[in-house]
Amino acid sequence: MLIQTPKGTKDILPSEVYKWQYIEKKISELCKSFGYREIRIPVFEYTELFTRSVGDTTDIVQKEMYTFQDKGGRSLTLRPEGTAGVVRSYIENGMASWPMPVKLYYNITAYRQENVQKGRYREFHQFGVECFGSKGPLVDVEIISMVSMFLDKLGIKDVELNINSIGCPNCRGEYNKKLLEYFKPHLDNLCGTCKSRYERNPLRIIDCKEEKCKVYTKDAPALLDNLCEECKEHFEGLKEGLENLGIKYNIDKTIVRGLDYYTKTVFEFVSKNIGAQGTVCGGGRYDGLIKECGGTDTPGIGFAIGLERLLMVMAGQGIEIPNPDPVDVYIATIGEKAQKYAQKLVYRIRQEGFSAETDLMDRSVKAQMKYADKLGAVYSLVIGDNEVESNKAVLKNMLTGETKDISLDTLIERLKM
Ligand code: HAM
Repeated sequence: MLIQTPKGTKDILPSEVYKWQYIEKKISELCKSFGYREIRIPVFEYTELFTRSVGDTTDIVQKEMYTFQDKGGRSLTLRPEGTAGVVRSYIENGMASWPMPVKLYYNITAYRQENVQKGRYREFHQFGVECFGSKGPLVDVEIISMVSMFLDKLGIKDVELNINSIGCPNCRGEYNKKLLEYFKPHLDNLCGTCKSRYERNPLRIIDCKEEKCKVYTKDAPALLDNLCEECKEHFEGLKEGLENLGIKYNIDKTIVRGLDYYTKTVFEFVSKNIGAQGTVCGGGRYDGLIKECGGTDTPGIGFAIGLERLLMVMAGQGIEIPNPDPVDVYIATIGEKAQKYAQKLVYRIRQEGFSAETDLMDRSVKAQMKYADKLGAVYSLVIGDNEVESNKAVLKNMLTGETKDISLDTLIERLKM
């Protein structure tokens, strides 16, 4: 057991890490152009933060959190998502006094003890953004357009945007009554968790993953058909804004999302090509959350993209991520004199910002060149006593096989060309 990763976790090996770095670079470019600044939050928080924000009738809180006690007897939980921590930080750091809106992004690991399957892990990565302070649909459109632009820039094509509105506490009162009426005759057939949700938060039943509940949830009344005037108008504004930017969407009345903090706009970007776990991005508005967590009443909205799923979609579409050349030049050596010479030369090349390698294993020249090939070195040189004395060597382009006699003094200049 000790020599295996825990179930649902993965190493990202050097041969894969360039893909992640590529995505991370695209994230920071995107966020810069939309005016979002990075925030880094702790991996664990007090458990109460999640029970209050994500909601104590959600699957995440009821079934999936990694919760433990520290030595002081306090209950802590590994973050199952980023929004709660960012909201906590917003309140704790007095961001309400910052120029509005406050736009933040994060690139984090998150932890959920779920049934592991393709695209569903226990440790996974999320790129998320949160925007605080604006309540109109303009910001909803901006946030959604950000995801859509990100997917475009990565060359992703087969992902659809589904939107819905789940209203505000005003519309929920009447709607909850309708839900209770609808589920009442089926109550005995629902799973145990949903039976308890019936009294406490019937909307949660709609999001249940149990097959026996899904039989009834598919025909349940939809919140979208029960919105108050303000929420209706907000949803109209959202649709109009998306149309204005030419962003295609479907209306999906069944989206309720797996977290309790949402109000009004909810949305998901879904790929049909990566199997059951096709939701690459989920997000929405949470106008009551900051107040619920003890801050002043401030609206908010955000999204999170699952990076494992994003990479799966890209792989599925055959999108190649450029793999930067790991080594610019490999310097093979023969003899001690050459080794010392190469040691200095490699150091100077690295100082200039290029990558260079030389033998550290006392290998034969043939073995060194084989290694250079495996490293994917762009250029190679062999240095022996003659080369040290004459200050000249043969530079080989490993990609084309082309060779050139060069003066060793000019090597760095050549790399710069
Ligand atoms: P979420 O829908 O729970 O929303 O997660 C967002 C995304 O994270 C999902 O669409 C999926 O791509 C990825 N994800 C979730 N669970 C897993 C898992 N077990 N394995 C792999 N990927 C997973 C949130 O977390 C909200 N905080 C989003 C948000 C931000 N809403 C407003 N602001």
